[in-house]
Amino acid sequence: MIEPQLEIFALFGNPVAHSLSPVMHNAALGKMNIHGRYIPFRVESIEDAVRGIRGLDIRGVSVTIPFKTAVMEYLDEIDDEALEIGAVNTIVNEGGRLTGHNTDWQGIIITLGKAMEIKGKTFVVLGAGGTARAALFGILRGGGRPVIVNRTREKGEQLAKEWGCPFYPLEERGKIAAEVLINTTSVGMAPDTGMSPIPPELLTSYRWVMDVIYNPVKTKLLRDAEDSGCITLSGLDMFVHQGAEQLKLWTGQEPPRDLMRQVVQERLIAKDRGSGAGYIDK
Ligand code: ATR
Repeated sequence: MIEPQLEIFALFGNPVAHSLSPVMHNAALGKMNIHGRYIPFRVESIEDAVRGIRGLDIRGVSVTIPFKTAVMEYLDEIDDEALEIGAVNTIVNEGGRLTGHNTDWQGIIITLGKAMEIKGKTFVVLGAGGTARAALFGILRGGGRPVIVNRTREKGEQLAKEWGCPFYPLEERGKIAAEVLINTTSVGMAPDTGMSPIPPELLTSYRWVMDVIYNPVKTKLLRDAEDSGCITLSGLDMFVHQGAEQLKLWTGQEPPRDLMRQVVQERLIAKDRGSGAGYIDK
């Protein structure tokens, strides 16, 4: 019997050694009956790596830190959403033609949308980096009102101007009336699990608190929020949904999201028991 052609999917980043994307995507491919493998590559040159997609006929690629913006100039096309956000986390290869997409905003909006109606609500977005941009895009697309809060004033103000929303400096965050808080900074990520970007006494005014960090699954921010009676949303769900949307773009099929969540969660628990902190991508 002739073996069917193995479909190759890849992760481009640096570092990638501790990424949980391979375990998540390979579990999904198996369940979806796709004869394929998802392989992490530690990339030295993103330009050469993109050339490799065509040369090796890689069907789909995830792009992570630090290449989400740098990769854009080497692709044939970029969809409107990724263009507006200014970052690509997914590449689709159709017969050598490479298109860039962004599924981070979908990961955020699917996670939020399962917990609430986004339309009409006010969201405090903490941070002004790439993840904040994906969050702003998703919230605006869903009809919500984002408010930016950032440590560095100039960066926050610049982003606020670009997206047409208000900005507050970190020390004035207590003055904002909002239903939802989303942390897009890395504060609280392993190994600094004792840190939170917001003091607990400022959390009581929010009904929902979301963290984009998924290692640990329950960050200090989410633990404090739970103690304050808020509904909490974890970065694990965002990670799973952004990955599931990638698989949908690559295969056209609906991926097994529950299984994907389960394998990532199991791996995170194993990491906690083992060497402690692990690097994550997002
Ligand atoms: P990403 O692309 O993943 O969003 P990034 O571009 O490095 O990452 O952005 C990280 C954001 O987290 C920034 O807005 C950063 O604030 P500054 O603009 O002031 O640098 C914010 N951030 C990181 N560490 C922080 C900390 N200890 N306290 C407050 N904000 C922090």
